Amino acid sequence: MKVLGIESSCDETGVALYDTERGLLGHAVHTQVAMHEAYGGVVPELASRDHIRRLIPLLERVLAEAGSTRQDIDAIAYTAGPGLAGALLVGASFAESLALALGVPVLPVHHLEGHLLSPLLADDAPSFPFIALLVSGGHTQLMRVARVGDYQLLGESLDDAAGEAFDKTAKLLGLGYPGGPALAKLAESGKPGRYKLPRPMLNSGDLSFSFSGLKTAVLTAARARELSEADRADLAAEFQEAVTEVLAAKAVAACRQHRLSSLVVAGGVGANRRLRERLDAAMAKIGGRVFYPELELCTDNGAMIAFAGSQRLLQGAAPDRGGAFAVRPRWPLDELS
Ligand code: KG4
Ligand code: ZN
Repeated sequence: MKVLGIESSCDETGVALYDTERGLLGHAVHTQVAMHEAYGGVVPELASRDHIRRLIPLLERVLAEAGSTRQDIDAIAYTAGPGLAGALLVGASFAESLALALGVPVLPVHHLEGHLLSPLLADDAPSFPFIALLVSGGHTQLMRVARVGDYQLLGESLDDAAGEAFDKTAKLLGLGYPGGPALAKLAESGKPGRYKLPRPMLNSGDLSFSFSGLKTAVLTAARARELSEADRADLAAEFQEAVTEVLAAKAVAACRQHRLSSLVVAGGVGANRRLRERLDAAMAKIGGRVFYPELELCTDNGAMIAFAGSQRLLQGAAPDRGGAFAVRPRWPLDELS
C-alpha cells in the first residue's frame, strides 16, 4: 500500500510517499525559514499562503523521485493538528480534495504521533513498548508507547516547551530565527559553568518540566552588563547544559520507572548534539539505548505523517472518503485511541 503524507502544521511543507512493503519511496520538504526570518518568528498568514504555493510542486517532485504517478497512490494521510489553524487547513483541503479526485481513502493524522513514530522509519528501529521523549517547538512530553495508538502521557512541560525555550533564549542573545540551531552552534564555542543557571525541577520527583524560568535567568545575566561575544557563547553553553541535563535525567527516570530499556527521541530539539550525547551516555549506564529518527526526519516532514497514517490504516482505522473535514489546532495526544 502506497500512502501519500502531507504535513503543513507550521513553517515546513512536507510531502512523502511511503510504501508499506518497500519503505520510504520519496520525500521532500520546503522550509519557510528564510521567509519568516525578517519577522523574527512564524507569521501564520504568510505560512498558509506559502503552503498553497508549495504543495503541488512538492507532490510532483516526490512522485518523480518515487517513479510513481498519482494513480499509484492508495491512500492519503495529512496532519490535522495540532498546529496553526490556517496552515493546517491548507494541507487538509489539499489532501481531502486530492483523495476525492483519486477516489482513495484519506486519514487525518496527529502531528505528534508522526514525530513519535518517526524513529520506526530508520533501518535500526526500536520495538514496542518504549519511552518517547517528544521535544519540539510546541511540546515537551514523556510518553509510554505500548503500540501504535496507545500513548500514556507520563509528564510534560508546565510552561515553555524545550524548543520554545531555545528559541526565546536565542532571541535574548541576539541570534536569529529559528533560535535552537543557532544557539546550539554558539554554545559549541562557549564554556558552561562560568555562568550558573538553575536546573528547573531536576529534583521535583516527578516527570514534569519547566523551562520559562531559565529564559528569565538568562535575561537577568544578560542585563547585568554588556555581553562580549565570549560571554554570549558561555551563556549559551550553560543554557544548553541546563536544558539537556534536565531532559536527560527525566527521560532516564521514566525508563527506570517503567522498566523499559528503549528510549525514542523525536521532535526538532532531538537534533541537538549535546542532548544526544547526554541521553546516549545516561541510557548506556542503565543498560538501555536511544533510538533517533534520521536527522532529516527530526524536524517537520511528510514522511512521518505518511508512516503514521499507514500504520493506522494497517490497524484498520476507518478513513474518511473525502468530504466534510475539520482541523484541530489544539489536540492532546492522549485523546487518540
Ligand atoms: O519538531 P519541530 O521541527 O517543529 C515543531 O515544533 O513541531 O521543532 C522545532 C524546534 C524549534 O524550537 C527549534 O529551535 C528546535 O526545534 N531545534 C533545536 C535544534 N534544531 C531544532 N533546538 C536545539 N538544538 C537544535 N540543534
Ligand atoms: Zn513538529
